[in-house]
Amino acid sequence: MTLITTPFGPKATAAQILDGVDLGGRRYIVTGGSSGIGRATTEALRGAGAEVTVATRSPGPGERHVDLTDLDSVATFVAGWSGPLDGIVANAGIMALPRRETSRDGWELQLATNFLGHFALITGLRENLRGGRVAIVSSGAQLRAPFDFDDPQFERRPYDRWAAYSRSKTAGVLLAVAIGRRWPGDGIAANALDPGYIHTRLQRHVDRATMRGFGGMDADGNLIMPDFYKTPEQGAATSVLLVASPLLDGVTGRYFLDNRQAPTGPGGPDAPAGTVADWSVDPAAADRLWDLALTVTAGR
Ligand SMILES: NC(=O)c1ccc[n+]([C@@H]2O[C@H](COP(=O)([O-])OP(=O)(O)OC[C@H]3O[C@@H](n4cnc5c(N)ncnc54)[C@H](OP(=O)(O)O)[C@@H]3O)[C@@H](O)[C@H]2O)c1
Repeated sequence: MTLITTPFGPKATAAQILDGVDLGGRRYIVTGGSSGIGRATTEALRGAGAEVTVATRSPGPGERHVDLTDLDSVATFVAGWSGPLDGIVANAGIMALPRRETSRDGWELQLATNFLGHFALITGLRENLRGGRVAIVSSGAQLRAPFDFDDPQFERRPYDRWAAYSRSKTAGVLLAVAIGRRWPGDGIAANALDPGYIHTRLQRHVDRATMRGFGGMDADGNLIMPDFYKTPEQGAATSVLLVASPLLDGVTGRYFLDNRQAPTGPGGPDAPAGTVADWSVDPAAADRLWDLALTVTAGR
């Protein structure tokens, strides 16, 4: 399979991706669009003329409430939506909660937020989304753990905060793969992405040693920006590329980083950065996860 490239490098901003693109009359939803990468995504889409609904737990003026950990809340959001929808950016997320917490529906909280809530949102809006696009904000963490179908939410094995995050991000890529397989006639293009490293509130549960390990903190505890770090506006670039750029017309089921498609390789502790794990794009795992999520969201 030929890997897709674009003229844009890793430090392109979302506004540069959409320069010259007219999104007038287009309607998008950005989850978690009131902070960090999501806010930059929202601003870039609006800057190109789109109508963007920010879906957030703490809505301000012009925003709408959704709590992705509460499937009733997602259902209420879906019921309140009318008319066509050109794209969803499944951006909201949480990372590395120190202790295992569960959602109102009884699911481990990182899986519930990062994957299940988005699954319910996207499947609930299927009819509105025909011919549109989905961008699922995953992470390089998908390289670190396959989805564990035997113990998806640490009921039998000890909770591991990073494994929980990694699984939820693997699940996001599998969802992008599954959408085209399950809805082949809908014309919905779904792709996943890693935004890169960006200082945001996402890292609030991360200890200093780990932050230093990421390269985002110096020995004195000060946040630093090594060259590979991005601003939120740069981190939002691949999201808007996938959900709104004509360069990606007709592309589905793939994983992007730095405004280009990433090669597939083996996942694991030695997996090279900038790749997508074979377990994250495995069609059989995508189908199996879809069926699991359908059972969870329909059977609550
Ligand atoms: N920053 C990075 O280096 C990096 C790297 C790889 C991937 N990512 C991914 O990028 C995405 C955006 O993260 P960010 O870095 O921009 O972090 P952020 O500033 O913390 O944004 C996350 C957003 O998700 C929202 N959210 C969390 N739980 C929610 C829930 N239950 N229902 C609805 N919204 C909820 C948050 O809203 P509240 O204000 O209500 O909490 C917040 O707006 C995440 O999916 C993250 O995993 C980030």
